[in-house]
Amino acid sequence: MTTNAPCAVILAAGKSTRMKSRLPKALHPIAGRPMLGHVLSTVEALGGARPVLVVGPGMDDVSGYARGLVPGLTIAVQEKQLGTGDAVRAAAPHIGEKQDVVLLVFGDTPLVRRETLADMARRCEEGSDIVVLGFEAADPTGYGRLVLDGNEVVRIVEHKDATDEERKNRLCFGGPMAVRTAHLPGLLAMLTNDNAQGEFYMTDMVAHGRAAGLACGAVFCPEADIQGVNSRADLAAAEASMQQRLRAAAMAGGVTLLDPATTYLSFDTMFGQDVTVGQNVVFGPGCSIADGVTIKAFSHLEGARIDEGAEIGPFARIRPGSEIGRKARIGNFVETKKAKIEDGAKVNHLSYIGDARVGAGANIGAGTITCNYDGYNKFFTDIGAGAFVGSNSSLVAPVRIGDGAYLGSGSVVTKDVAANALAVARAKQVEKPGWAAAFHAKHKDKKKVSGE
Ligand code: UD1
Ligand code: CA
Repeated sequence: MTTNAPCAVILAAGKSTRMKSRLPKALHPIAGRPMLGHVLSTVEALGGARPVLVVGPGMDDVSGYARGLVPGLTIAVQEKQLGTGDAVRAAAPHIGEKQDVVLLVFGDTPLVRRETLADMARRCEEGSDIVVLGFEAADPTGYGRLVLDGNEVVRIVEHKDATDEERKNRLCFGGPMAVRTAHLPGLLAMLTNDNAQGEFYMTDMVAHGRAAGLACGAVFCPEADIQGVNSRADLAAAEASMQQRLRAAAMAGGVTLLDPATTYLSFDTMFGQDVTVGQNVVFGPGCSIADGVTIKAFSHLEGARIDEGAEIGPFARIRPGSEIGRKARIGNFVETKKAKIEDGAKVNHLSYIGDARVGAGANIGAGTITCNYDGYNKFFTDIGAGAFVGSNSSLVAPVRIGDGAYLGSGSVVTKDVAANALAVARAKQVEKPGWAAAFHAKHKDKKKVSGE
């Protein structure tokens, strides 16, 4: 028997009414990435033929997203949503005959693991004609139930078609199904829609296959690897499972999470070793955190690169395009955006640094604001190495502060400052000796009005 990677078909044409959303279900994110993205990258990792994605008419946002992720992906349009079996029919003309096995996967089961699908494909190639993925559900409501005879799967009965007795069975069908390519056209031709939902069920291929003498087996996985997303509550449950998986992987890679249940990761969060993450920290997509970084409690990071030994937070907001250099320090209530904070620089308190460079070793005082936006355009602020920006300064971009320059506190800087110069841009202090005493004397007979 030849071994070649399966041809994967991903079904995503369903109407997803239970989500009550204008956004197609496949594009709802889990860990910062559309559900479909998780499924596509999992089947991509199997290698082999280009996958086929089944979408409904007008689902251009879904096909556009998928094409962006997997160039050369084949899109099949299912004209009417007549059920999962009908969706497979829509894909059938695009399935390469060179592949021995077709792997049918749902776009709404984002947690499925590559190893599980590979195992199913192997089992299908080596023995069974059909291999389905089963799991034991804590609450099986809504899922198709697997009817077994020893190791063989006899049929799958959909929840809505099941008797009360059958509904007690907690062994469910997870969605993925591997089928020998040669058998697929015959099995699809046998599907009918005389069932509770009036749909063509892909799951009926098992009973038809059995009747035709085919061998139907099952592979099993934990529920957390295959739970389906039909509603917002399911979405939250799948997110929780994905977060647990990502946290476990981070810790296995040498990251200390002080309270793992409150660390929120994205599918692509990258960590070096000996990173410490405090409580209630959120990593949006596109973060890469180098060795020895400390991220303190209540920080929010997104699209950022944090270099070795830097310290972030508590309560820091690191927005896209931020690059925080080695041993740099970003403290509480500091927001950075498109900002390069070079090695050893410090922005310790209450600042906004956007569209800017802060040179190595510079010190940015509390309350410093880069005024980067005039309502139409964004402008750049360049702060040289070793510069010292006094507290409560506003840097009105475009502006350049030279290396080693010093800015007096409370300055509103609108012009460039030369290297190593001192600039003070604030009203001069005026002092009138005895003024206050004279003022009080003048008013001594008047009653003070309270609260004014
Ligand atoms: C399906 C299975 C059920 C299984 C469960 C696992 C069938 C009949 N039922 O039920 O046995 O336990 O998944 O999560 O297969 N889709 C199309 N075109 C359609 C209908 C659906 O492309 O006409 C796609 C959907 O976009 C979705 C997938 O197929 O990605 C599954 O459809 P859905 O309606 O969610 O099926 P379930 O009721 O969850
Ligand atoms: Ca579903």
